[in-house]
Amino acid sequence: MNEINPWKSTSIDDYQKLFDEFGISPFDDLLANIKHPHRFMRRGIIFGHRSYDSIVDAMNSGKPFGAMSGFMPSGRVHLGHKMVMEEIIWHQQQGGTVFMAVADMEAHSVRGTSWDDCKRIGVEEYILSLIALGFEPEGGRIYSQSTSPEVRDLAFELGVKANFSEMSAIYGFSGETNIAHMVSATVQSADILHPQLQEFGGPRPVVIPVGADQDPHIRLTRGLADKMNLFHVFQKDGLVKIYSKSAPEAAFKTLAKRLAVDFDTDDITMFQGHIDVKGDIGHVRDAVRDVELLVGGYAFMPPASTYHKFMTGLQGGKMSSSIPESIISLTEDPKAAGKKVMRAKTGGRMTLEEQKEHGGLPDECTVYELMLYHLVEDDTEVLEVKQQCLAGELMCGTCKKRAAGLMEEFLIDHQMKREAAKERLPEFGIDYKF
Ligand code: TRP
Ligand code: SF4
Repeated sequence: MNEINPWKSTSIDDYQKLFDEFGISPFDDLLANIKHPHRFMRRGIIFGHRSYDSIVDAMNSGKPFGAMSGFMPSGRVHLGHKMVMEEIIWHQQQGGTVFMAVADMEAHSVRGTSWDDCKRIGVEEYILSLIALGFEPEGGRIYSQSTSPEVRDLAFELGVKANFSEMSAIYGFSGETNIAHMVSATVQSADILHPQLQEFGGPRPVVIPVGADQDPHIRLTRGLADKMNLFHVFQKDGLVKIYSKSAPEAAFKTLAKRLAVDFDTDDITMFQGHIDVKGDIGHVRDAVRDVELLVGGYAFMPPASTYHKFMTGLQGGKMSSSIPESIISLTEDPKAAGKKVMRAKTGGRMTLEEQKEHGGLPDECTVYELMLYHLVEDDTEVLEVKQQCLAGELMCGTCKKRAAGLMEEFLIDHQMKREAAKERLPEFGIDYKF
């Protein structure tokens, strides 16, 4: 479902638009409260979020939280996928439970990929790299959509609340679209929400790290989460209001009883179809969730999200699997990848003299971007590159050689770890013969 791209250009101005028009919040505001921020966070590569404060709170107070993402098993695993994988793994390392879907129902229905190819590509491209990058079985679930009954059942249930107009506005469905393709869209929402099913840990903050163009899916799923819930809680006129269109009278009674545990009865007022509470909204939400679960509801929290910038293709344009020179895959020959780096578009000047006099343009340099996003973990080191480039002290030849060397080293190491990961598949419950 990559064809939807409401924000085609990836310049900073367009990211600003995301804040203003779509209600995405700037990530900067949260940074100070994150103990060991990931390099994408420190470097402004993750620039926006929805509800990520709930994840930060959970991380800081030791409460449960999760992270999830999915990959369509098509094509080769590349640096763009690595970004999402790292983000998921980072959340696992911070104590979250993490989920990774192989979106085989999506690939099969949208791209026509056979089930055998889905399995092979899922394992041999994506899962091996995921494990090689540090995804661990404890508190980590890797699954494919087609073999997860919980996800498929939830998708069906979500389909009750999803209507064709909204779905086609987001996914571009038309009369020609096959039905399974449409179903795969609700399966994606089910991927996102299933970590909050009781059997996977229950309602809790779960973050979906995505690229900036994926926000429509997030908004859709946040909307569906809300529609699935029995009770709706919000603040108005100094009161916390609990509404429900569908909760039976008995559920309201149970809720009133539960509220009376935490609140003074004078602060609770019952009406037909709603309850007002004078008190802290967090505590009200806790009580509502308990009761909703008790009476068989979902009590989903809206999924949180983070948004990262896209990398530029090595040739300066878009990064695209159909342009091999624009992209480095995690399985390609390290030497060949090094050569791609040597041929990549830099922010260098026409001549050495000019470069010495005016300095280079690291912000327009794909080689700098590779170091910033992937190759240099140490912040001072990457800053030094930038400063030396700007000052005209660093020449592109030297700089590219260094980046190419780092890329080769990374790939050699990563590919060794991928080999080792083959032995570890059973730890993740994956049965596969190479
Ligand atoms: N649709 C995503 C893609 O195009 C894959 C995907 C499936 C996904 N389920 C997901 C991504 C849940 C994030 C969360 O690759
Ligand atoms: Fe890019 Fe390095 Fe050249 Fe600067 S010196 S423009 S960072 S390749």
